[in-house]
Amino acid sequence: MNLQLMYSSELIQARTRELGARISKDFHDLPLVAVCVLKGAAIFFADLVRSLSIETEMDFVRMSSYAGSTSSSGKVTFSKDMEIPIKDKHVLIVEDIVDTGLSVSYLRHVLEARNPLSISICALIDKLERRQVQVKVHYPGFVLQEGFIVGYGLDYAEKYRQLPGIFKLISEK
Ligand code: PRP
Repeated sequence: MNLQLMYSSELIQARTRELGARISKDFHDLPLVAVCVLKGAAIFFADLVRSLSIETEMDFVRMSSYAGSTSSSGKVTFSKDMEIPIKDKHVLIVEDIVDTGLSVSYLRHVLEARNPLSISICALIDKLERRQVQVKVHYPGFVLQEGFIVGYGLDYAEKYRQLPGIFKLISEK
């Protein structure tokens, strides 16, 4: 596999600070719970919450939609739930990538039933080509048309998550 740089660490950090400033302004003085969708969003989440200038609670969920391949099975399961109650709080779902949209739509649906004040979605990458369900990403980092990308939390068969930048994965012929 070859890696081609798409978003450098510096670019990601700068964009994350911009998103953090916007979110801080929008939720100033409001009760906010930031929800990290494991595992891919873990690194982005850690940087994003540290760029917020407002108080936020942090929680984690774990879903599964891919099984070591570049193609989604379309099947989403919810294997680790939140621990913090979200009733009467604003919820910010933090994703590394929205691709088909199935994962975040499912999560949103599950969380809506718990009567939060609102649910917003922040995704570092809003990837359009394979979208199957309409999803409003309120805080997109980068909008991408196509391509399989790795790094900064994103994996291919559990590899490349630790890379500080984001790269396009190109298979060797
Ligand atoms: C990835 C990513 C999103 C989801 C997006 O997670 O982190 O949660 O897929 O894809 P979708 O919009 O097509 O549903 P993945 O299931 O690969 O798990 P991981 O975060 O542990 O890598």
